[in-house]
Order: sequence, then structure tokens, then C-alpha cells
Amino acid sequence: MTGTAAGVLARAVALGEISEEPGRLTRRFATGALRAAGDLVGEWMAAAGMEVRRDDAGNVVGRYAGTGGDARPPFVLGSHLDTVPGAGRYDGVLGVLVSVAVVERLVTRSERLAFPLEVAAFADEEGARFGVAYLGSTAYAGLFEPAWLHLVDESGTTVTDAVRSLGDDPDALLRASQPTLSGYLEVHIEQGPVLEHEDLPVGVVTAISGRTRASIGLRGQAGHAGTLPMPWRRDALAAAAEAVLAVEEIGGREDGLVATVGMLSVEPGAANVVPGAATFSLDVRHVDDRARGRATGQMLEVISRIAATRQVELDWEVLHETPAVAMAPWLRERLAEAIGAEGLRATSLVSGAGHDAVVLARVCDAAMLFVRCAGGISHDPRESVDEADVAVAIDVVERFLLGEGLARPSLETR
Ligand code: GLV
Ligand code: MN
Ligand code: MN
Repeated sequence: MTGTAAGVLARAVALGEISEEPGRLTRRFATGALRAAGDLVGEWMAAAGMEVRRDDAGNVVGRYAGTGGDARPPFVLGSHLDTVPGAGRYDGVLGVLVSVAVVERLVTRSERLAFPLEVAAFADEEGARFGVAYLGSTAYAGLFEPAWLHLVDESGTTVTDAVRSLGDDPDALLRASQPTLSGYLEVHIEQGPVLEHEDLPVGVVTAISGRTRASIGLRGQAGHAGTLPMPWRRDALAAAAEAVLAVEEIGGREDGLVATVGMLSVEPGAANVVPGAATFSLDVRHVDDRARGRATGQMLEVISRIAATRQVELDWEVLHETPAVAMAPWLRERLAEAIGAEGLRATSLVSGAGHDAVVLARVCDAAMLFVRCAGGISHDPRESVDEADVAVAIDVVERFLLGEGLARPSLETR
């Protein structure tokens, strides 16, 4: 089963059982479930012949030595093991498992690359626990920001305490230096419908959309639901409702723009109390950073007006902003060649979803291979991939690594 698509899918099922909560898959940063998933992946990496390390952020990295020792910087394959709440089995996990399977194949055939290969299973891509995404890959890339140690989750636990609770050292996240890498390739489910529409198993990503994540607080005045007359109310939830509809309307103004409110909390939260405060999340994306900037500016303007009219206070906090990221042309070409060599048309597509490749692209050239997923469904337990498509992904990545291009001496000078 090692090195095969069937093996990858069986492992995805096994990892899908490792959750923070019974009955649905939720595996967030610095939790026992994430630790257990990382340990299991580490066992598979070790069994494949890789040297395995786990860092203080919970990233698990396997290294497969090349023929040239450490003369060349490693090339990295990777993706993430954390999930959104109520996740499917393949977002992130597929890329990690395909990468391990590729190494298993190389080892089975005693095939050594000219450079070291690392497989990274990152600990946080989703940002589902602390609001800020990429806490895992930024630690790996030496880009973790000190302020992030003080982020709190919904129960008031800080990143520092969460990391410590697993026996890790939060300060080590800040000490990590930027690694020298020769490139990064991430395999990931598409999470959208394009490949299915084009009837293709895989595709090459050209760019990853930029994203703004914000937390928006509206503070009015709580009151008795039976006695406070309607004209006198400063209902924070009613203001939030108008704001959410404004986000939806502005999000539909431009092609390629998407805007989502995925979380909303109301205080004090009782049927007979006029809501005194409401907080909601905002996620805005576009591959054109100017279009994203325009849209978030319009949202701020309209929501400020709604807040003023309804006499509620507005708190607009941008949590996280990442610009659009272009994938490295030379790696895209190598991928397209590998796909072509499999007898397939190499199609290109943009990613609306965020990926660890956004972070890795700050320290080395990065590329992504998307794998078709059924109905384009993701962030949902119905997420699914075809074994045959996974087999293609394994073949393409193997060809990509063994291809002339990556072994060229010019790699060292990039
Ligand atoms: C990650 O899945 C994201 O794009 O939100
Ligand atoms: Mn993902
Ligand atoms: Mn995701």
C-alpha cells in the first residue's frame, strides 16, 4: 500500500478519525488532536526512511537525503494537517500524504535525488483557532510574528499557553531563522469546480488570491426585550444584520471578488434581551490586491454609516492581510511538463483559497498542483477525491522531482 493512491486514501481515513470532538473532524493548531495526527504522519515518514523532526509550532518535517549531501538546499513538498471545524478529510492532508507516498516510491526504487527533499506537515494553515492563519508555516519559514503569541482563542487561551500545553517552547517560534530552500511544491485539493468542469484530474496554480481577514465589533445597548420601545433601541445584532448584507452586496460588485461573514456572536445572547454587542468575521479575497482594497474600503465606509445611523459603536480590526501571490513561472513550467508527460493537458487556474504556499513563497520559489475534488466541495465532510486522480498527482510529483529542470545546477543560483 505504500507509495500508492489507495494507501494515501486509507491514511486520509485514519487521520480523519483524529479529531478534537466526537462525531466531526476538527483539528486546530496546538491541540492534542493535531499533535496525534502529526505523530502518526511522523511515524509514516520514519517508516519511509525519512529523518523526522517536530518543531515547537507542531510542524512535522521528514527529510530524505540526496546524493549531494547538504551541498544544495532542500526542496520542500508540503501542506497542512490542521482543519476547519467540521472539516473534510483531504484539505491539507492530501498534499502531505501524496508527498510521503512520493518519497516511499523513490525509496522503494532506491532513487536518490541530487538534493535533499523535505516533506513538511504544517500545523496551522486555516487559522481556525486563533484567527490568524499560517501559524505553522510561518514558524517553519522563520516568519512568525511576536504579537501572534498573545492571540487568544474563544476560551481565552493564548498561543503561548496552547503551545506550552503540548510541552513546546513558544519562544522557539520567534528564534527560528529563515531557512534556505531551493523551492516548494504543494499538492492540494482544488476546493472548487474548475478541474471537474474541464474533466481533468490535476491543474497548475498560477496565483493565490490575496486575503483580508477582519473582526468587526458593533456595540449598542442591551435592554429588556419586553419593555424597551423599538424607536429607542440600539440593537447591535440588527446593525450587524445590515452590515452582513452590505458585505454580500459589495462582494458581488466585481468579477473574481468574494466576501464572506462566517462567524457571528451576540451578547448577552438571550431570547428576551435586546442584543448589546455583536461581533462578526469578515473574509475578503481577490487575485488583484487593488480590487480587494477597494472592496474592503467600501465595506468599512458603508458599515460605518450603518453604525452611525443606528447609534452603535464600530470596532474594525484587521487581523490578517496577505497580498496575492504569483507562483514561480519556472516551477509551473516544470509541473506542466510533468503533466504533459503523463499524457494530460496541463491546465492553469488561480486559487481562491489560501495555502501554506503563500508563506513559503516569501522565502523561496513556490508552486502548487491542484487535484480535482468532487463537486468542488470543501470545508465540509462531503469533501472527496478520486483514487485515480490521486494516482495522477503522485505520478506528476515524482516526474517533477526527477525531471531535468530541478536537478539543473542553475537551481543553486536562484
Ligand atoms: C483556507 O482554507 C482558506 O483559504 O481559508
Ligand atoms: Mn488547505
Ligand atoms: Mn482549508
